Amino acid sequence: MSAVDPSASTWKLSSSTDDYDKRWAEMAASGENTHGEADLIAHFAPASVLDGGCGTGRVAIELARRGIDVVGVDVDAQMLAAAQVKAPNVQWVQSDLATVDLGRTFDVVALPGNVMIFVSPGHEGAVAANLARHLSPGGRLIAGFQLRPGSLDLSTYDQLCHEAGLSLEQRWATWSCQPFDGGDYAVSIHLLHPTMRSPLEWDPRTRYNDRSWRPRV
Ligand SMILES: C[S@@+](CC[C@H](N)C(=O)[O-])C[C@H]1O[C@@H](n2cnc3c(N)ncnc32)[C@H](O)[C@@H]1O
Repeated sequence: MSAVDPSASTWKLSSSTDDYDKRWAEMAASGENTHGEADLIAHFAPASVLDGGCGTGRVAIELARRGIDVVGVDVDAQMLAAAQVKAPNVQWVQSDLATVDLGRTFDVVALPGNVMIFVSPGHEGAVAANLARHLSPGGRLIAGFQLRPGSLDLSTYDQLCHEAGLSLEQRWATWSCQPFDGGDYAVSIHLLHPTMRSPLEWDPRTRYNDRSWRPRV
């Protein structure tokens, strides 16, 4: 039995991990850019990325291929096993994003592939706070997810990020930076203040309150 509580996620693979990967491979074969997430993440030139809810490693493996120091974290043992086979040299960690403690920080924490809407309802704030702890000063939390009725909405997500010490820097409709006009998908970039001291020691009860600082837009 897994040591990690699978109820941390509502993600249930309806088919096999092979089918999941096959679907992406078919999209790539048809000429679609399946690395839009990696392209946007790489645009910020991070030396290190935590891929949260990495699944079978689709994005993490591409980032590692580009020379970025990547750690993939997922609660799902089956998805991680597939990632491990494809990229044994990448560090894969089976854990809940709400509680994982990697003992280090990253320039970017990325949540591509709708991860935030598959976090068990009520645990999104713990995930945002814990991921903020893993950001280096000036680091970014980059998340893309669908906006569905009854699911996590953007004002709630922004509030949870704010409570975690993060400020909204930018929001787009797609990973290729189409303007967000209130549609049903958003890519949000939240920034940890550049002078925030060591986030792993940061006490989340202490809120950042420097009104002189504004996020870059
Ligand atoms: C739709 S899949 C996306 C996988 C990958 N990011 C991609 O884009 O291909 C969502 C992933 O989020 C993971 N997940 C959801 N809640 C989680 C949590 N609390 N902790 C860790 N992983 C979680 C699921 O296990 C699943 O692998």
